[in-house]
This record gives sequence, structure tokens and C-alpha cells, in this order.
Amino acid sequence: MKERIAELTDRLNYYNHRYYQDAVSEITDFEFDALLTELTALEREYPEFRQADSPTQRVGGTISKEFPTVYHRYPMLSLGNTYNEQELLDFDDRVRRGLEGEPYEYICEQKFDGISLSMTYENGLLVRGITRGDGSRGDDITHNIRTIRSLPLRLQASDAPPLFEVRGEGFMPLSAFEKLNKEREDIGEALLMNPRNAAAGTFKLQDSAETARRGLDCYLYSYLSDQEQFQTHEESLVALRRWGFNVSPTWRKCATIQEVFAYIHEWETKRFELLLNTDGIVVKINRFDQQRELGFTAKVPRWAIAFKFKAESKETILKDIEYNVGRTGAVTPVALLKPVLLAGTVVKRATLHNANEIERIGLRLGDTVFVEKGGEIIPKVMGFDPARRPADSQAIVYPTVCPACGSGLVRQEDERGTVQAHFYCPNEKGCPPQLKARLEHFIQRKSMNLDSLGEGKIELLYEKGLVRSPADLYDLSFEKLFGLEKVITDHETGKVRRTGFKEKTVENILGALEKSKEIPFRQVLFAMGIRYVGATVAEKLAVYFGTIEALEAATHEQLINAPEIGGRIAQSVLAFFADSDNRQFVARLRAAGLQLAETGEAVVQESSKLAGKTFVISGVFENFEREELKHKIEANGGKVLSGVSGKLNYLLAGEGMGPSKLEKARKLGVTLLSEQEFLDLIA
Ligand code: IVH
Repeated sequence: MKERIAELTDRLNYYNHRYYQDAVSEITDFEFDALLTELTALEREYPEFRQADSPTQRVGGTISKEFPTVYHRYPMLSLGNTYNEQELLDFDDRVRRGLEGEPYEYICEQKFDGISLSMTYENGLLVRGITRGDGSRGDDITHNIRTIRSLPLRLQASDAPPLFEVRGEGFMPLSAFEKLNKEREDIGEALLMNPRNAAAGTFKLQDSAETARRGLDCYLYSYLSDQEQFQTHEESLVALRRWGFNVSPTWRKCATIQEVFAYIHEWETKRFELLLNTDGIVVKINRFDQQRELGFTAKVPRWAIAFKFKAESKETILKDIEYNVGRTGAVTPVALLKPVLLAGTVVKRATLHNANEIERIGLRLGDTVFVEKGGEIIPKVMGFDPARRPADSQAIVYPTVCPACGSGLVRQEDERGTVQAHFYCPNEKGCPPQLKARLEHFIQRKSMNLDSLGEGKIELLYEKGLVRSPADLYDLSFEKLFGLEKVITDHETGKVRRTGFKEKTVENILGALEKSKEIPFRQVLFAMGIRYVGATVAEKLAVYFGTIEALEAATHEQLINAPEIGGRIAQSVLAFFADSDNRQFVARLRAAGLQLAETGEAVVQESSKLAGKTFVISGVFENFEREELKHKIEANGGKVLSGVSGKLNYLLAGEGMGPSKLEKARKLGVTLLSEQEFLDLIA
């Protein structure tokens, strides 16, 4: 039996490969299914003989309760964007200067519009598949990734290293998307917005059999390994293809930026013939040593860039305007439109940004407007056609009171005396959408990661009067939550749906709340929703001040002394803590047991010996971790940069740093420091 199972496995994998890679059917679907059924039955009887690369895994069947979060071995970065040819020429200039006259080539690829995935292969076997997540860690969705039929479960490649990662874009082909939405329409379910959302949702389904059924696919575009196996990106793409990976054949090598432009022009229209959405072109430096030499900024590589295609534009009728109130009280007008198909999705609403914008465009209700989808976010009203204004068009009267709570709207002047673009509802302590938005902000992943309160549950808790402030969440109990029920009426279909809090739901919510008590201070600080304190600022403040008490006690001067904190943020932090309700809010979070202190050491200023000096840290050190060295530099007034440039003062060089970095530092006359020399410097 073992032999038969092995034989069936190999044959089915072979047919799969021929079909998905080479588009050749060597046997009929019927024969294929018969072999698969036989294998499934045999595996059920003799599970001990099941092969690691069995094609039966592609059919799914594993139910995941939740997807564990795992760290990426190599961070998953994003790309800088350009929108016109000049910006691309500027990129080319930066590359030329960075490479100091060396010749270089580009590889152009499509920018596929899906979700980025990272797959790990160990000894030829697909062992893990992770979403991008926040770039440093993502969700382990291996079971769902295995359902992608074009992705090899086992490699037949003798020259593949024992451990490597491949990255690419997971997507739902347009045909699969249409089919899925048709099915949903038939059973009266809400339609999925676009193929990208559909893919994202499908990769996160708990039932992998359903994922398998929906026919996801994946194009690979990066290879990562500690072994330096290839000299160029081109070589890696060719090898990936040879190893059986689905590499889109649309890439091209370009010797000059002019050739890159030619590629872009060619694909501007040809892209609509592809089986998936693309939203631009990615331009990458071909040689890996040159990629390393150019390096990265804090967020994106200097050796690659995306060129985004102009958004598609459509015209439709402006029917009405709705006014939304956000977390900060800002009122944003939203255009309600006659539904129109735009870049693959039906658009009914579009943003108008603010009152100035309506005035600037000079809109009236009934106008024929142009809507655009820029960078596939929310569509935007760009203008209107004056020639087609109907005789009965109506003026747009901007409200003077909050549409949600009736408070008089205000418009303030900023520091420079310019009137703000937005009207604000000043009722920050009582206006329902503001309170709800603050709750939403608090539960999101980047904040307290209370996913289990999503999907309208927080709204329900608010409506039932159980939660108004985020601190109320920590007073919830099993008794308060169990059995809560909400009746939801879908206004479009008239269907009524009931959602009740079952035992499991309640346990999940309470469990997540308990777990959130381990969330680090910087994240809690962000979750508090202090105006202008985004995730990065929260981290800076948390690291610098160390505890909420120290932050609360900080003066204006101390605040602006913290790295990268300006007057506007300082003002906002002071205003936050000046309010006794906010101080009470913090006290309640403390009582609930949330982390209100950084576990690592705060940057206590030791000296200003390194004031005005810049450092790059590279390699491994004998006595210190890199983070500790960074701390030391900052504690003595210095600044840590990410890349070697002419402006750099010192390169703190450890064991095993890259030769190209060293070389570059030497060329630019940067002073090299050993660990000991550095310590002497601050002693
Ligand atoms: S390379 C550091 N190549 O675009 C380089 N990305 O905006 C990282 N994407 O997160 C990516 N097509 O999800 C690369 N041919 C392609 C791509 C591509 C689509 C996505 C990817 C990435 C995002 C960056």
C-alpha cells in the first residue's frame, strides 16, 4: 500500500504541475478525480503512509481556530511609490549616484494587486506560509496556502538550498472572484468589494476546504536565503520557475530607464488582459550586490520602486451628501452616488474630504461628477461637468450642527492662523460616533489587539450601554456578555439576522481582554488615542519617558526635548493629561492591570558627548546587542541612521558585517569604530 500511495502522490503532483505551470492536461478531469479519490481513501485507511507533499492537502479540510502570529526571518518591507515619469527619473538618478558610476540594469515586473505572502521551504518541503502582517510578524496561514494548486508542496530541485523563503502575491483570479460573487448574490449574501479583499478574506478563512474551493493563486517575485546562491534577481526568477514556482512571465530586463518607460507604456493597457488586477509596475535593480549596496531607508528599499498607474475615472450622478463624524470629531462629507462600476467594483459612495473641497469644486446635488479611485483606497470626487448641470440642481448646505449629537460645529485656526479645513464637533465626551470610533481605535490590532470584539460587537456593547469608554471593557464579565443579542436588518435585502453572544464568543472576548494586559506600554499609549500620538510617536514617548507617570508629569520643555517630538504633539499630550477625566481613564487602565511602563530601560540621558554625531551599527558585537548599542548612542545624545552615506560620522563595526558596506564607508571617509573604541568615546 505504501508504494501505491507514493505512486499516486507523485503522479497527481506531476499532473498538477503540468496543468498549473504548463497549461497541459495529460489526463481528463474525471481520471484525475478518480486517482485523487483513490488516494484519499487509501490515506484514510493507512494514515502512516501519507506523504508530506500529498495533493490531498490541497483540498483543505483543516479547521483553524486562530492563526498563530509568527515573526518573519527577514522583515517584509513595502515599496516607495511614484506616480509620474519625473519621479521615476529621480529614482534613477538616486540609484546612479548611489552606485557611483557602476553600470546597472533593472528588472521590471507587474505590481500584482493581492496580499503578500512568504513561504518557507525546508529540505524541499513547503513548511510554512505567512501573511505580511505588520512587516515584522504575520499570521501563519500554512493550511490555507497549501490549497494554492500552483504552489509546489515538494520541490524536485537538486540545486535548491536546504532552507529558503519565497515571497509573492496571493490573489484571487478575476474569474474566480466573479464566480464567487455570483454565488453570493444567489444566496443573498453581501457581495465582496474587490478581488483583493476577497483574497485577503479567503486566505484568513478558518475552514481550509472553503479556501481550496475558491481557487486562490500566487505569483512569486522574491527569493531569500542565507546562502548567496544567485548573483542577480533575474537568475533567481529563472531558478524559481525551474523549481516549479509560478513566476509570472511578464517580467523584463531593462538596460536603461528609457526601456523601463517602454515597458510601462506597453503594460498600461495590456494589463487589462491579465487574469488578475495589477495597479502598477515594480522596478528592481537586478544585481543583488548592488541591491545590498543601495540598502534601505527606514521603510522601503532604495533599490526598488513602484510606478503606479493613473487611477481609472468614471462619471455618475451626485445624489446626496452624508456627513460622518470621526474619532477626533472631524466632520467629513461623503458623496452618495448613483452606483457606477469603477476599476472592478461598484461604487456608491465617495469622499469629498471637507467643506472647502465642496466649495472649491463648486458642486450642487444632481451634478454629473467624476469619480476616481486613487491607489485603490476609497474613491474620490474629482470634479463635475458644468455643461450637464440639471435645471433642478440643489445647493449643498453644509450643516452647522453635528449630525450625530446636535452640538454646534466649530472650525478652528491652527498655529499659523489658517482656518482648519474641517469642521469639528466639540462634544468629544458625549458624541456617539466619536466615542464609538475611540473604542474602535482601542480594539484594533495595532492597539490592544482585541480582534474578537470586531464585526459590530463593540457597537452592540455601546448600544446596550455596557461600554462607553475603553476602560469599561475591563469591567465586562461573563454575566454581562452572555446572551446579548442584536437583530440586524439588511436594508437592501430586507433580511433579518440575529447575532447572539454564545459561550464561546464570550470566552474569546474575555480571553482577549486578559491577554491584552501583556501588550507593551508603547502600544497601550497609542491605543489611548491622544491626538497626534500615532504608533511611532507613542513608541518614541514610551521609550523616552519610560512610564505613564513620567509622561503625565512631563513639562512642555521636557516633552519637546524628546526625540522627534514637536510643539503640536507636546501641546496635545499636555492637554490630554490636564483633563481630569483622562487622568481617571488612565487610572482605570492601571487598575485593570495594563502595561503602563516600558519593560526595557528608558533612555535616561547620560551625557551629550555624542550630540550632533551620527552612527550606523552593523554586524555582531561581543558584549552588547545592537539594540543596547543604539540605546547607548541615544542616551549620549547621538543619532542612529540606517544607511551609510557621506553625512555619516561613525560606522560601529561588529563581526561579520557586509563587505560592501565596509567598502562604501571607507570610500566616503567614515570613521570606523570597534566596540571598545566606541566605549572609550563615551567613557
Ligand atoms: S517586491 C522590498 N514585487 O507590493 C520589496 N512587490 O508596495 C518588496 N507587490 O508588499 C516587494 N507585486 O505585496 C514586489 N512584483 C512585485 C510585486 C510586489 C506586488 C506588492 C507586495 C508588497 C507591495 C509593496
